[in-house]
Amino acid sequence: MSMKKYDVIIIGSGLSAIWTAINLDKKLKVLVLTKSKVWGCNSFYAQGGVTVAKNEQDVQSHIKDTMIAGSYHNDKKMVELLSKKSLTVIDDIESLGFRFDRDENGNILFTREGAHSKNRIVHAGGDATGREIHKFVFSKDKSFFIDESVVFDLLIEDDKCFGVSVSQNNKKMNIYANSVVIASGGVGGLYKFDTNANTISGDMQGLCTLKDIRLKDMEMTQFHPTVYVQMKTAQKLLLSESLRGEGAKVVDQNFKRFLFDYNERGDLASRDIVSRAIYDYKQKGNKVFLDFSDWNEEFFAKRFPTIYYKLKDLGYKIPGELVPIGPAFHYMMGGIEVDSSSKIKNFKNLYAVGEASCTGVQGANRLASNSLLECFVFGKICAEDINKNITNINKKFIINDEILEKENDKLYKNQLREIMWQNVGIIRNERNLLKALDFVEKTIPKVGRITKFRFLTAKEIITAALNRKESLGAHYRKD
Ligand code: SIN
Repeated sequence: MSMKKYDVIIIGSGLSAIWTAINLDKKLKVLVLTKSKVWGCNSFYAQGGVTVAKNEQDVQSHIKDTMIAGSYHNDKKMVELLSKKSLTVIDDIESLGFRFDRDENGNILFTREGAHSKNRIVHAGGDATGREIHKFVFSKDKSFFIDESVVFDLLIEDDKCFGVSVSQNNKKMNIYANSVVIASGGVGGLYKFDTNANTISGDMQGLCTLKDIRLKDMEMTQFHPTVYVQMKTAQKLLLSESLRGEGAKVVDQNFKRFLFDYNERGDLASRDIVSRAIYDYKQKGNKVFLDFSDWNEEFFAKRFPTIYYKLKDLGYKIPGELVPIGPAFHYMMGGIEVDSSSKIKNFKNLYAVGEASCTGVQGANRLASNSLLECFVFGKICAEDINKNITNINKKFIINDEILEKENDKLYKNQLREIMWQNVGIIRNERNLLKALDFVEKTIPKVGRITKFRFLTAKEIITAALNRKESLGAHYRKD
């Protein structure tokens, strides 16, 4: 067994991972591990932007919008922390040399998305906010970095995590650390239609359940309303809510703005409401589109270059031509339960940040663009806690010898994606949830350890959805 030791191991390479790394004490030896390439993370694909309270006066309004979108299922104290800390986020990153989009006078541009009562979302590269931020922070980070390395165990004894077991090029090894941070992202790969990076499949959440670490709010799965779902690739093309924030419209085959029949805020109602409305309207036999025809082409290409060129490549004659849309899985509000230091309950040195974690800020439905904000705020909080409390710990562990991959894993993963979409999707009922649970329980013994993680995470989602009998936020029961 090779003995490698770091001060901090961070699992994952998205914004929450790298922002944690950047805020760690420079004298700490930090290792970032990612199961694929560095850009295989959801932050990289975030389009809309980063929500910030614009000033002290806006904090209460941002808290209110976050709580309303979250159906008041949010942890209010955590939301207050998020919003107050958001006041310094622009300076934190711009002081390192980053620039958010500005107008010709140098004023930062603020946009808006569903359920925000005002424009308070900052963006970069038009609709390439996640990519721009991720590229930038990665260029500033001095951590050691290993890609294509799959974590298959957490080396835990009592209230401490001594490191991780990793498989790299089919070679298993233990890597030890004084502190471990899980920043491995959400669960998109569990669903047939999703906007997430291909690598994102809830693995660490599943591993946590094997270690008796509590997951929270796992029934709270967010579906994005405006996605180009006809892509051949597993990852579908997100069509940012900020398109509607800047005037694009959801229409049917007769150009009717039917969303107003579902909610008075129409296009700018919260994501759960718009997703369900579009899903329901399509079930009734209608077609649903995004309409950009009020824009001129120059504006479209400048403000939303990623989407503009992607749609052009797909053959759409925009802004004139309607683009068909549908909802797809987008974001997991639930996750590994952490406290206000980003620490996992009952642990001294094990943390979770970003989408993998459940801080309670997102409630039952995340307010648009609060996710990158959460990465900034709780990544920094996590790093500060580690900087204060890190202590040297040492213990050797035997490597788990369970088979990591089995021949039919891919087949079962694809079946899971279909079953989760059909039975644990936008509209849920007990019969379908039980069907999904039955499939998951019967399949777990057949798959390798790595695939088992995502099945265990799916089981948590299904069980939580079964247990919450009433609808709340993104969790909608129609029994
Ligand atoms: C979007 O741009 O619509 C997605 C942003 C988010 O998930 O908050």
